[in-house]
Amino acid sequence: MTRVRIDLNISLDGYASSANPTPENPMGEDWGRLVGAYTATRTFRRRVLGDTSGAGTTGVDDAYATGYFEGIGAEIMGAAMFGLHSFPDDPDWKGWWGDEPPFHAPVYVLTHTAPRPSMPMQGGTTFHFRSPAAIEEVLAEATAAAGGLDVRVGGGVGTARAFLLAGLVDDLHVSIAPILLDRGTRLWDDLRGLEITHQVRSEVAESGTIHVTFTR
Ligand SMILES: NC(=O)c1ccc[n+]([C@@H]2O[C@H](COP(=O)([O-])OP(=O)(O)OC[C@H]3O[C@@H](n4cnc5c(N)ncnc54)[C@H](OP(=O)(O)O)[C@@H]3O)[C@@H](O)[C@H]2O)c1
Repeated sequence: MTRVRIDLNISLDGYASSANPTPENPMGEDWGRLVGAYTATRTFRRRVLGDTSGAGTTGVDDAYATGYFEGIGAEIMGAAMFGLHSFPDDPDWKGWWGDEPPFHAPVYVLTHTAPRPSMPMQGGTTFHFRSPAAIEEVLAEATAAAGGLDVRVGGGVGTARAFLLAGLVDDLHVSIAPILLDRGTRLWDDLRGLEITHQVRSEVAESGTIHVTFTR
């Protein structure tokens, strides 16, 4: 049965986005430190960067990175994560991930802006743009498209929080980087008691990253 999954990188003090994004540095100044353990894995390097040399870490962080890519049949993301807020005037913007994005599945991009035609990409990813009356509507469409596999809410923070606050998420995995950001967008606000509705498991990686999973 389809499960709704979220995987996010956060700081020890609970921030899931990096401060001060600029056109030159759209991910913001702290992004590298926030996601460094994940982007160092062999799986990220192979699946996202196309690096087939075998380089990258192979420990606990890599095991979670491998899990991240398994069993996803459709993805949902917000307009900012796709890049529509960074490139609002480019009708041909195709996301940050190049000609062959690493999703290999339909991706539903939430946006209030004028509808765009769907964009089929190499490797099986198709970006669809949706402005649903409620997030349950796009989740139903993504679930049908997933064909029994899971649906991931990829981000960004606002979209992930909307699904969490609506109680729609079965599996949340946070990679907690041992850093203190003291700024950015917080993940946890108003989610009191998530550890009661979901079972919690924690594991510390060689990098010092704490992997916490909440499973309904
Ligand atoms: N820590 C991590 O692992 C991680 C992962 C991914 C992203 N991020 C970070 O997350 C940040 C982006 O997150 P964000 O919260 O700013 O934005 P976001 O969730 O990516 O996108 C939010 C936007 O999506 C559109 N949207 C959301 N819900 C909608 C709905 N129900 N109907 C129609 N449109 C809807 C709206 O855009 P419009 O109204 O403009 O169309 C809204 O402003 C970035 O800083 C990124 O680095 C972090």
